[in-house]
Amino acid sequence: MAEHIPIASDHAGFELKQQLVAELRALGYEPDDLGTTSEASTDYPDYAHKVAEQVSTGAAKRGVLLCGTGLGMSYAANRWPHVRAGVAWTPEIAALSRQHNDANVLVLPARFVSEADGRRILATWLATGFEGGRHERRVEKIELDEHARDVIAHEPPHHG
Ligand code: RB5
Repeated sequence: MAEHIPIASDHAGFELKQQLVAELRALGYEPDDLGTTSEASTDYPDYAHKVAEQVSTGAAKRGVLLCGTGLGMSYAANRWPHVRAGVAWTPEIAALSRQHNDANVLVLPARFVSEADGRRILATWLATGFEGGRHERRVEKIELDEHARDVIAHEPPHHG
């Protein structure tokens, strides 16, 4: 059965997302296009949370997000437990995000990559596995430990 891959963008990533939805199909995956549906202005967190929820709960193994820089999407997606969303702007960075960080959400900076590069980055990311070994321990340490959870519970981070 084809792997189901949720994919979403804001308006800045819309055009490249359309190309990558077709690319996912061509590569034999089953894309689940969660929007946006046009170049009309939207808020990137709304889309980041849709994809991240699926990956965080295990409804999907991996997902793809696009916005102008990739940054806003990655900030929002990485708030979800067990989501490791990494921005990749070359195939090499995409491969390393899988090999070393076990990235489970690929984030593309749509305003800074060509369509051809976007396709290459996506294909490389999908085909590259996690190396494990010494990286396993480091990836495990990304999740907040008991100390961090205790600090937050007693002294919630303040803003301003
Ligand atoms: C939209 O203009 C832009 O801010 C957004 O796509 C993204 O780059 C945010 O991080």
